[in-house]
Amino acid sequence: MNATPHYQRIAAELQARLDAGEFVPGSRLPAVRRLAEHYGVNTLTALAAYRLLEQRQSVVARPRAGFYAALPRRAAHPEQSAPLPAPAALVQVDSRVSHLLRLSGSRLALQLHMAEAATALYPTAELARRLQHTLLRQPELIGAYLAESEQTRLKREIARLAAGAELDLTPGDILMTQGITEAISLALRLLTRPGDTVAVETPVYFGLLQTLESLGLKALEIPCTPDAGLSLEALEFALRHGPAVRCLVTVPHFQNPTGALMPDDNKKRLLQLARRHGVTIIEDDVFGDLYFGPRRPTPLKAWDRDGEVIYCASFTKSFAPSFRLGWLAGGRHHAALARLRESSSLVSSSLLQVVLADMLAAGDYARTSQRLRQQLAQQMQATADAVLAAFPHGTRVRRPQGGLLLWVECPEGVDTTQLLEAALAQSISFAPGLLFSAEPRFRHCLRLNFGQPWSGQLADAITLLGRLATAQLAGQD
Ligand SMILES: Cc1ncc(COP(=O)(O)O)c(C=O)c1O
Repeated sequence: MNATPHYQRIAAELQARLDAGEFVPGSRLPAVRRLAEHYGVNTLTALAAYRLLEQRQSVVARPRAGFYAALPRRAAHPEQSAPLPAPAALVQVDSRVSHLLRLSGSRLALQLHMAEAATALYPTAELARRLQHTLLRQPELIGAYLAESEQTRLKREIARLAAGAELDLTPGDILMTQGITEAISLALRLLTRPGDTVAVETPVYFGLLQTLESLGLKALEIPCTPDAGLSLEALEFALRHGPAVRCLVTVPHFQNPTGALMPDDNKKRLLQLARRHGVTIIEDDVFGDLYFGPRRPTPLKAWDRDGEVIYCASFTKSFAPSFRLGWLAGGRHHAALARLRESSSLVSSSLLQVVLADMLAAGDYARTSQRLRQQLAQQMQATADAVLAAFPHGTRVRRPQGGLLLWVECPEGVDTTQLLEAALAQSISFAPGLLFSAEPRFRHCLRLNFGQPWSGQLADAITLLGRLATAQLAGQD
């Protein structure tokens, strides 16, 4: 005879299903009556199972609405016994990230930790020719800020490019920035004060965590999966029950690191949700031009009627990483952002802006970025195939529809921080999962860059990584 009370057995089973990720955090769980029917018990027993899980903070009860899967746990604070979602955490990631960034300057044979394509894939020779030509004709570009008329010419070209993504912008709506990093920093500086809470995706680009850290902000991490992108259920739950959120930073297109693409319907729902809760959205569209499908995805900003979305974009991934040319369209916050930029980097390089304007006007950007997209799409397939062939059974990969990053979810038990040490010894780098959250959440995951031309050396490196991961698991048996 089984001595464990029914309600405890049901709770244990539900806990296992929650742990296995069957229910998205923040999503609604089966109604008490349905749970009772499913297990052939009365509703009081089913309710007791939920109450037990509630005590353990695995589920959250909402009055008259039922039970919901809790958001991911945060590090335990003994003094804190509040129901989930727990207060957002102050971010501290800097040293971990600096360690990774230092790898870029090293002599590793295969660097798969970065988020740019290989130098050879960018139109460097064409850019060099244009730079020389422009400099010979207009040496004054070195000695002066860009003339107003030239700034407008560049912004007109950018507005034309944006129109292809269904954004209706005039040159006056556009502010140039140093990469997208400055655009996002400006937006955060404008919208927040130290100690405020910002909603971000989890896993999330570690550069954003660094920015939040430098501004003394707290991150409220909202689950984002490769298949479904940002969980709107979890976000809504957090906005209703969590701490006050000043703004949300989201990467709807080919999110870093998951590669997720937010469906258009979700974009519209997200805008409504943000409006209902008075949350400004900072849209990071750094990978938007690197789509593999027939058409560029449409930014959230295209449906923003209130000017509440601060749209940020950049040419750093799709054209020339070192030019550091980014831009934003700040909607109703635009004038304030333009003022803030005066105390930040003031202006961008005249020479580089003129070259960008010329390349946009001549159709060269459209041509070279199309070539880059085609190469990336092929490299993504080859990389994903190699990972699935080499990594331990149970490894999951969702092939992204754009960008240059592949998120690899190894079976629990693989520790990718340790795996990185072993890989570095073989002159291979990647980005370990631990970097993509302020919490120790993605230890079994890793991010690979597929921006390198496919080669035998690359295939061998991925086979080796897979072998190392398999050996790690076997060592635990
Ligand atoms: C999601 C995301 N946002 C922003 C950046 C930084 O972009 P930029 O080089 O334009 O500052 C990166 C770079 O990897 C990124 O992945």
